[in-house]
Amino acid sequence: MSSGHGRPVLPETVLVAGGAPLGGELRVPGDKSISHRALIVGALGEGTSLVRGLSDGDDVRRTRDAVAALGAEVHDDGEVVTVTGGRSLLHAPLGPLDCGNSGTSMRLLAGVAAGLAGVTVLVGDASLSTRPMDRIAAPLRAMGAGVTGSGARCLPPLTVTGGSLHGITWVPEVASAQVKSAVLLAGLFAAGETTVRERVRTRPHTEELLALAGADIEVADDGDGRVVRVRASALRPFDVVVPGDPSQAAFWVVAACVVPESALRVRGVYAGETRTGFLSVLRRMGARVGLHGGAPGGSRSGVGAVADVTAQWGPLSATVVHASEIPSLDEVPALAVAAACAEGTTRFVGMGELRVKESDRLRAVARLLDAVGAPARIEGDDLLVEGVGGDGEEGGDGSGGSPKGLRHFRFDSQGDHRMAMAAAVAALAAGPGESRIDGFGGVATSYPAFLTHLRHVGGHARVQLVAIDGPAGSGKSTVSRAIAGRLGLDRLDTGAMYRAVAWAALERGIDPQDAPGVAELAHSAVIDPGPPDVVIDGVVVTSAIRTPEVNRAVSAVAANPSVRAALVERQRAWAAAHGGGVVEGRDIGTVVFPHADLKVFLTAAPEERARRRREEPSEGVARRDELDRTRTASPLAQAADARLVDTTCRSVDEVVEEILSCLR
Ligand code: CDP
Repeated sequence: MSSGHGRPVLPETVLVAGGAPLGGELRVPGDKSISHRALIVGALGEGTSLVRGLSDGDDVRRTRDAVAALGAEVHDDGEVVTVTGGRSLLHAPLGPLDCGNSGTSMRLLAGVAAGLAGVTVLVGDASLSTRPMDRIAAPLRAMGAGVTGSGARCLPPLTVTGGSLHGITWVPEVASAQVKSAVLLAGLFAAGETTVRERVRTRPHTEELLALAGADIEVADDGDGRVVRVRASALRPFDVVVPGDPSQAAFWVVAACVVPESALRVRGVYAGETRTGFLSVLRRMGARVGLHGGAPGGSRSGVGAVADVTAQWGPLSATVVHASEIPSLDEVPALAVAAACAEGTTRFVGMGELRVKESDRLRAVARLLDAVGAPARIEGDDLLVEGVGGDGEEGGDGSGGSPKGLRHFRFDSQGDHRMAMAAAVAALAAGPGESRIDGFGGVATSYPAFLTHLRHVGGHARVQLVAIDGPAGSGKSTVSRAIAGRLGLDRLDTGAMYRAVAWAALERGIDPQDAPGVAELAHSAVIDPGPPDVVIDGVVVTSAIRTPEVNRAVSAVAANPSVRAALVERQRAWAAAHGGGVVEGRDIGTVVFPHADLKVFLTAAPEERARRRREEPSEGVARRDELDRTRTASPLAQAADARLVDTTCRSVDEVVEEILSCLR
């Protein structure tokens, strides 16, 4: 689904049904962590780097826009993204860098900004503005940069004053690849040597990409941790293939493990040891998961091992999960769903860092598990999950159904992408029935194709269907456009389809009253209702269908039962393909979608409707209304269960709020 201006939009509310096994294979988006770093290191390299398989989520788009604002040139031909950079091109940006929801963008870019002369302001959305930046502010200050944020935890907006830096040795307090990366990136600009000593190994992608770009960098193991040293160095351009994101693969792997009779293969996933801890956890739980075709050293990607991951349904048992096994904790929401389906109580130890993710994920995970019927409790920084597996693992009814005790639910992810995807997996596991997930739009930050992939492997997901009917000038188009925008849904203007048929009839010299002639046309025509354009048989008719001739012809065309049959069938197919949407017309709530989630019938005083349709004579509007109301085939009528909304003298916002309140 697209918003029409480039940024991916996903529906805010999604309904996911369980009960069907999952199968087949898929590719998850390019690894988000590697994608951010490829763009940043590419921007620092002297020349043009090529990046294939870049993540298409909003977070990475933020980094892409930011490196462009810093002076790098970024081009995307749909397959390869080229980044032309170099020290002489980079400068402090003219305006703030908007990192959206992306903590990685903010923390890594702050490291680069520390090395650039001048002031860089980094801002984020409401959620990012609550995330602590003190962990990067402290080392960057120690290196000589000025870093200010709000309060003791240095919350965004962040102001970084860069300039002459000197090397330091830093031992991060929290295991964080982002802190390590910020310090290493600043170290590229610093006099002397910069060293990061991490007590726990975190994802090594900054080091991998810096090595690929020829930086003066050394990495050595140090017990459970690692020591990384970097010196100021000129970077060269590189060519990299971004492997699939293991933290996204985790949702499918867990889904295959917990949905009865499932088996899935996720192709081309990054398989470096710091990122595959979740597979070890699942194996310990008894899951049938495997890594295949791993290329140690991963010469093809240039950034480590790549493998296919397979997973199959089977009984799971509880385990103890330590934070050090999955340093970023990104896979905890998915693993928690596995724990919910396992036999026994799983303890996740040392999960405090989950409180400062895109939401307070520790509480969010507990909320989700309670909702799905697997009680969870938080003890200090630990999370305990009472699984429902065991007797019911073969299916509550003994026929391969859901794990005993899991139930469908309603959950608000509050915009946190990983919580929304974990909720979708829980819903798939909950057996026949449907769960409602609100706040789903956040998934666009990392995985815009998630719903498409869910359907591809056999899961059932739909979005809400809103039917908006009413006479001419009642405000249908404006209101449906606004509702679709607010809910992240696509919109279908069925009137445009009748108008397109009327236009084509006039164009071909068919009398609009010639029922068989127009019907044949309606059945054979290929109609794309847009947006952006209405197209019939390859001709763009977006404005041609709004002429007085079409206004006069359309009522007769729309009264033709055979035309209606042809168009209604396509309207239903449209909704099936889009999983739902906002559909406007005259008979949507009564005939086309009698089971819509919400039906609205808009009206307005006749004078106001005539005023809104200034381009059409008021007698014309009145005549059309009369014909629409009195025809035999699907006349304009309010469905018994439709909400009547009078738009006379009311603002669009007011009307939209009233309609949305019915969906909450
Ligand atoms: O522009 P206006 O809101 O007046 O009408 P429209 O939505 O563009 O629809 C044009 C005409 O198509 C209407 O007057 C109806 O005759 C017909 N129509 C219909 O019969 N059923 C629909 N679902 C949509 C439109």
